[in-house]
Amino acid sequence: MNRPRAAVAVLISGRGSNMQALIEAAANPGYPASIKVVLSNRPDAEGLAFAQARGIATAVVDHKAFARREDFEAALQQHLDSHRIDYVCLAGFMRVLTPNFVAAWTGRIINIHPSLLPAFKGLDTHARALAAKVAEHGCSVHQVTAGLDDGPVILQARVPVLADDTPASLARRVLAEEHRIYPLALAQLVRDATPPPVG
Ligand code: GRF
Repeated sequence: MNRPRAAVAVLISGRGSNMQALIEAAANPGYPASIKVVLSNRPDAEGLAFAQARGIATAVVDHKAFARREDFEAALQQHLDSHRIDYVCLAGFMRVLTPNFVAAWTGRIINIHPSLLPAFKGLDTHARALAAKVAEHGCSVHQVTAGLDDGPVILQARVPVLADDTPASLARRVLAEEHRIYPLALAQLVRDATPPPVG
């Protein structure tokens, strides 16, 4: 018997290339998750057009329309409920979520971050990695917890730092790895949570 695929929401704020990688992976019927909705806090997020072109539901929940973070999150939650979402993937989503929201999704909300966590939490990771003269950089898919870029790592990919790297060249190589590991990490999370039927 085929198990139902997990229902996933992807939350974006901009370009959406990681969202695109998740949508491409989920286009394979053998993939254990299906992307049900893409939510953006910014009306002008470029990624929305790609999702719409693939026939995926999209919605904008503009944080500027809400006086309180809790009200913004209640609006997000309404969309997650109406699409019966099992897992939330943050993909370049530039809003910090409250501990209450995160707690409600514990184990079912993940993020992609462009560094080898726990190194270089926060922004400008590529420039900071170059300034620190590290030999290797990379990306991490991790569980989201109340601390910024702090939850348990699910999967990482490493890239060597080259002598002539700029933040942009390093970002390009890391991004290619992000697109590879985000779908793998989501599939792993879903499969680990759904044991195969006995017999
Ligand atoms: C990615 O580098 C991701 O790791 C970081 O923000 C960037 C988003 O890019 N959190 P995109 O919107 O997925 O293209």
